[in-house]
Amino acid sequence: MTETAASATGSDGIAVLEKPGSVAETFGIPLAVLLELTHRCPLQCPYCSNPLELERGGAELSTDEWKRVLSELARIGVLQVHFSGGEPTARKDLVELVRHATEVGLYTNLITSAVLLSRERLATLADAGLAHVQISFQGSEASLADRVGGFAGGHAKKLEVARWTRELDLPLTVNAVMHRQNLHLLPDIIEMAVQLDADRLEVANVQYYGWALKNRAALMPTIAQIKDCTATVEAARERLKGVLAIDYVIPDYYAARPKKCMGGWGRQFFNISPSGKVLPCHAAETITGLDFPSVRDGASIAEIWRDAEAFNRYRGTGWMQEPCASCAFKEIDFGGCRCQAFALAGDAAATDPACALSPLHDRIFKTAEAEATSGSDRFLYRNFAGGTAKDA
Ligand code: SF4
Ligand code: FES
Repeated sequence: MTETAASATGSDGIAVLEKPGSVAETFGIPLAVLLELTHRCPLQCPYCSNPLELERGGAELSTDEWKRVLSELARIGVLQVHFSGGEPTARKDLVELVRHATEVGLYTNLITSAVLLSRERLATLADAGLAHVQISFQGSEASLADRVGGFAGGHAKKLEVARWTRELDLPLTVNAVMHRQNLHLLPDIIEMAVQLDADRLEVANVQYYGWALKNRAALMPTIAQIKDCTATVEAARERLKGVLAIDYVIPDYYAARPKKCMGGWGRQFFNISPSGKVLPCHAAETITGLDFPSVRDGASIAEIWRDAEAFNRYRGTGWMQEPCASCAFKEIDFGGCRCQAFALAGDAAATDPACALSPLHDRIFKTAEAEATSGSDRFLYRNFAGGTAKDA
């Protein structure tokens, strides 16, 4: 019998989540989950959201283990999975995983750099039930985009795959990660997304933890660039109503209040790493001293979501220190980002220094400003060797 989400009644996963008094009771299982199938990737973006210590191919979950995870996610009420990486198309079993996800009732999105895809493989993925494709772009012109990604010929291939995506009638999102070295191209990137017939464009300014923090001096935009960027996005949203939806994330060093990172720790999001670790945030392993259970350890995903110390440590507001503890915004932004608090304040329970009320805010804002105007353009490229520094 084909297993479907609807057929899995009486699942112990749901019982676990509904147990009265459970900390997770008020935080139902997230509707969408990010699955990092692998950390292997042909690109080397200097702002990669993967941890600095990448998981090797030999540690990855097997095809059967991922299928078991997909079935379990469907049973406990997850509706959508994002197949991500690294580069998820580096997994030879991707078609099988997409087919299985579809069979158990999950909506599937592929988050890809696109450079490894052939038209035939993309068509096979579509036949297996793939519902959506998101392609990352490093710019709108090959020379810069290929330098940022550290992959010659990447930009041209991405354009080709984006066209195939629409020819196969799959909805397309263009993801553009923005920083000092490519923000001047934003108007062209918006035009490129329109030309590619994308439904959505994500204008995602780099957030600074992990690899991006190591490359902050080469990536940090100036205040003038961010002002221009915001104006460009606002005008384009107006002009392209009904044509292209534009999501916009500003770098939070330049915001007065921090973002509600991950929707609040352990409230709306988890991801699963290539080796099966269940994480409250894709950057959570940058916080030392937290132990993240794996789907290989025996507990169900629902039990991990409900009980794991790593999820409960910063759930809700009870863990907060001042100024968050008595702040009117604490239920709105949940104190910002735990990973950024750890990276910049050395304490994941501190107020995110992106917040103007943090005692560290002025210092990090001034550092950002100084880096934006005098930092070198030299990148530390992401790789398994701990990064390779190269000049422009
Ligand atoms: Fe948010 Fe804490 Fe800043 Fe208040 S003090 S705005 S809760 S980060
Ligand atoms: Fe991890 Fe914000 S990036 S909580």
